Amino acid sequence: MTTDSHGSSRGPEPVAADHDAHAYDGIIEHDNKLPLWWQLTLYGAIVFAMVYWFGRRLDAIETPLQAYTREVAVQRAADAEEARKRGTIDDAMLATLGKDPATIAQGKAVFTATCAPCHRADAGGNIGPNLTDPYWLHGSKPVDIFHTVHDGVPAKGMPTWGPQLGEDRVETVVAYVLSIRDANVAGGKAPQGALEE
Ligand code: HEC
Repeated sequence: MTTDSHGSSRGPEPVAADHDAHAYDGIIEHDNKLPLWWQLTLYGAIVFAMVYWFGRRLDAIETPLQAYTREVAVQRAADAEEARKRGTIDDAMLATLGKDPATIAQGKAVFTATCAPCHRADAGGNIGPNLTDPYWLHGSKPVDIFHTVHDGVPAKGMPTWGPQLGEDRVETVVAYVLSIRDANVAGGKAPQGALEE
């Protein structure tokens, strides 16, 4: 305690009056009360740690990686929206859609329902070619892929999807194909076409 016999607490008291004073190696230690701010940082840190620990356990607080992924997804969605608004279907536009998780998820649903029977569920190829290897029959640029899907290759068994799916869904499924290109899934069909960058 820092209170001296007069009840004031101004600074360290004379050693003689301090019964708790403890001398060691000629250094006198006083049992001073810790300042409030110091105690607040200590107890505050303990409370914060408990809240944070439970928050993480209950998945109520996201990890930095989750926060980052969410923010990137928001940005990608805004970019995709912007690209769609511009209205021109070009490499840049399709590449932007191919980075937006929401568009990719829609495209994946279209792929599973429409394309998987011929290209396999993981796009490793079946009747149609492997879409995850770097070999392409009809070009690997986003616009090339869009045209192949939109117009098809009827003579070779690839249907014409434009009229069936509509332009928007063709865009989303192409976005999905772009997102899995070069994934080289295991057990994929042998390469067909030319090796492309
Ligand atoms: C009835 C079977 C069939 C379905 C369904 C099908 N495809 Fe194909 N696809 C093919 C065949 C066969 C080829 C190869 C055409 C050729 O040999 O020129 C092909 C080629 C492609 C190519 C070009 C690959 C390259 O190497 O250039 C893309 C991209 C493609 N399909 C995407 C799709 C998408 C996306 C869907 C769904 C909307 C789809 N396909 C549905 C049979 C199919």
